[in-house]
Amino acid sequence: MKIGILKELKQGEKRVSLSPLIAKKLIENKFEILIEKNAGINSLYENSEYENAGATITSKENIFKSAQVLIKINPFDDEDLKFINKQHILISQLYYKSNPELIKAISEKGATAFSMDAMPRISKAQDMDVLSSQNNLAGYKAVILGASEMTKIFPLMMTAAGTITPSKVLIYGVGVAGLQAIATARRLGAVVEATDIRTETKEQTESLGAKFISVENTGEESEGGYAKEASEDYVKRQKEAVNKSLFQADLVITTANIPGRKAPTLITEEQVKQMKKGAVIIDLAAAQGGNCEVSKLHETVVLNGVKVLGTTMSPESVSTNASELYAKNVYNFITHLTEELKFKWDLEEEITYETLIVKDGIQCKK
Ligand code: NAI
Repeated sequence: MKIGILKELKQGEKRVSLSPLIAKKLIENKFEILIEKNAGINSLYENSEYENAGATITSKENIFKSAQVLIKINPFDDEDLKFINKQHILISQLYYKSNPELIKAISEKGATAFSMDAMPRISKAQDMDVLSSQNNLAGYKAVILGASEMTKIFPLMMTAAGTITPSKVLIYGVGVAGLQAIATARRLGAVVEATDIRTETKEQTESLGAKFISVENTGEESEGGYAKEASEDYVKRQKEAVNKSLFQADLVITTANIPGRKAPTLITEEQVKQMKKGAVIIDLAAAQGGNCEVSKLHETVVLNGVKVLGTTMSPESVSTNASELYAKNVYNFITHLTEELKFKWDLEEEITYETLIVKDGIQCKK
């Protein structure tokens, strides 16, 4: 089976869906690997490293012509669609709920498509879960980014010239990114508080040495491990519970998302205006509309001395690690779906069923 790895064309993207190490592992398992020239360059993977692993470096046109399986991180774009045909099995993050036109276009080509972001949140799928592997790095990087934007340090420091009190960090959303942000900020010595609509996250927060800010909750705010949209009443109660910490925070990291919907607004412009001068907000949900009312994707907005950075869960700035982990997720996924170099098409099996979006031109998910 020939697997083709395409260069990511999305602006600012530095990751690649396969590392030389994982290419080697697939080749040892008798898969043939074709890599688009320079696909790995922004993750510091040279063409020669892939060749040394046994892969072939070739053009995009050649990959579409000869590979059956095509792998990317970002959704296939118009340029790819020109070449896609019914022989192709596509694997990437398609975000099918937000991209109905792309799914329709793929099905019109008669192709088959799996979406990595639709991976079920079950224990046997953990090692294929790209949202986890990437969001985890994003949580780490958000703290580092915040620290470099702040005019204060994180830890308590006792010096001959006086004592520096530790910074206060507040995290909204204790999912994968939020947990890593808590752990990273704690390791750097900050005093950390966090809140989440899912009450089960209280214990996880406390186990990392942070304080959980509880908001009275009716128990209907989550479903299947994910958050549901908060009621107006919850939003009001959340503000009351969190405002004191928000107005004292030096760094705020927001990670809250609701699958398939716009991110919830958790910090209004009015609240930003009441924060400390010099405070920094890193809004990791900016690509989904943002958790902070004033954030703008890939921009820094300064309001009343508070810096608001709109960023994403795609950890492009740590592309070497992010590519490595994405590649390992892909390896586990392909290993799961195939047997003796052929797809098993076990459509009753949960991972296959949940991630299969289009099969031979027929849309399986809407
Ligand atoms: P996510 O990216 O969908 O959301 C991030 C966090 O924001 C969540 O914890 C969510 O509850 C919170 N949130 C949403 N609306 C909010 C609001 N209005 N106020 C405050 N917080 C709000 O979540 P993620 O990181 O994808 O994790 C979702 C769940 O899946 C977690 O329980 C995680 O532990 C679980 N998980 C399970 C895996 C497995 O078993 N294979 C793998 C990865 C995650």
